[in-house]
Amino acid sequence: MLTLSPAELARGRSVADDGGAAVRPPADPWVRADAACAQLPGPLAILDRAALSFNAGSLLRRAGGKTIRVATKSIRSRGVLAAVLAQDGFAGLLAYTLPEALWLAADPSGAFADVLVGYPTADAPALRVLAGDDVLRSRVTLMVDSVEQLEWMEAVLAELPVRGPLRVALELDASYRPRLGWRTLAHIGVRRSPVRTAEDAAALAFNAAGRTRRGTQLFTVVGLMAYEAQVAGLPDHPANPAKAAVLGRIQAASMAELANRRRAVAAAVGGAAELEFVNGGGTGSLELTAADTSVTELAAGSGLFGPTLFDHYSRFSPAHAVGFALPVVRRPGPGMATVLGGGWIASGPTGPSRAPTPVHPAGLALLAAEGAGEVQTPLRGSAADALRIGDKVWFRHGKSGEVCEHVDGLHVLDGGRLDGTVATYRGEGKAFL
Ligand SMILES: Cc1ncc(COP(=O)(O)O)c(C=O)c1O
Repeated sequence: MLTLSPAELARGRSVADDGGAAVRPPADPWVRADAACAQLPGPLAILDRAALSFNAGSLLRRAGGKTIRVATKSIRSRGVLAAVLAQDGFAGLLAYTLPEALWLAADPSGAFADVLVGYPTADAPALRVLAGDDVLRSRVTLMVDSVEQLEWMEAVLAELPVRGPLRVALELDASYRPRLGWRTLAHIGVRRSPVRTAEDAAALAFNAAGRTRRGTQLFTVVGLMAYEAQVAGLPDHPANPAKAAVLGRIQAASMAELANRRRAVAAAVGGAAELEFVNGGGTGSLELTAADTSVTELAAGSGLFGPTLFDHYSRFSPAHAVGFALPVVRRPGPGMATVLGGGWIASGPTGPSRAPTPVHPAGLALLAAEGAGEVQTPLRGSAADALRIGDKVWFRHGKSGEVCEHVDGLHVLDGGRLDGTVATYRGEGKAFL
């Protein structure tokens, strides 16, 4: 069973993490990983226990005493989720689909008794399972942002007896829309919920709370969530200083605007419901979101694995806890080596930032014309000629949990030694998205 290292947790909590490489344990994880995995065939992926523990401590330090709900999409391994949740300061899961939430909430260990599905569902069979099971209904909370979704759920459940209300949380649009007079100048952030104002949120909360069948309430509103993607998911420390300065100003203005709006929305929804939580933030914004007094808990996941999309933030610098290795299988010519597979592309706007990054041996790069391929990936660079068939090239993924969709388990490295594997969702036969 995977557990976190108390010493590395403590180190993550205490290091004044200023983005310096000095905070990353160990100094070159890939040399040690390569030696430890010498007898294992690739493709494979590893999880460094010390780095994971350090990162968990770092997230706790940045959360400033507010609890962190773990974003499962960024982990996709029950063993890792359980290890993190065993640590004080982490509580509850932010799941990404309802079938996933049902599976986790039914876990016999009882480790996952508080699962918030962070995104709306349209899965009728899963909804019927939830509605018909008293334990699951008490453990799983659904996300809604419109009357249309409530109506859909009510219609799906129309033929079933009402055993008790479904727990729902409301999502607030956290995007930033600077205005000049009556004109909205831009939409900065993601396109998620249409609920923007205190009036919008109160109307939806009253609508949800007012739905009954034969005197029994269908929904209880228990929470509010607002994810400020334009701050949490956008690195504020790009190489270009002018760009960094502009971004910093926009993000500060966005957080100030959201703090006011989130407070007003929480108060307005509080008139229709007793809120158990107001959730906000993500790995990229923890200390900023924690400073918002209306937020009662944070969400984070990616900061535990430390993928490349989290390399360029000014406020933190996660250790590289997860990497994957692909074997060299051919040599197209001098200065080149080709590895098996490689197209472990991260989701989001497609481009170089979504491609995996070769990290060991140093000095290898993808070819612009081919990128990371479906079944093979040619690499160019000074290190290529020294590679032999079967040698491994190590990569970091762009995103956090998606790497787990490619392997059945993560090989756990502890102090440079292999210490078993921890199963991924895929390894447990689960593919939710
Ligand atoms: C609702 C919500 N909260 C929090 C997060 C932050 O997750 P992470 O810490 O993995 O970036 C996300 C990421 O997309 C999200 O969608």
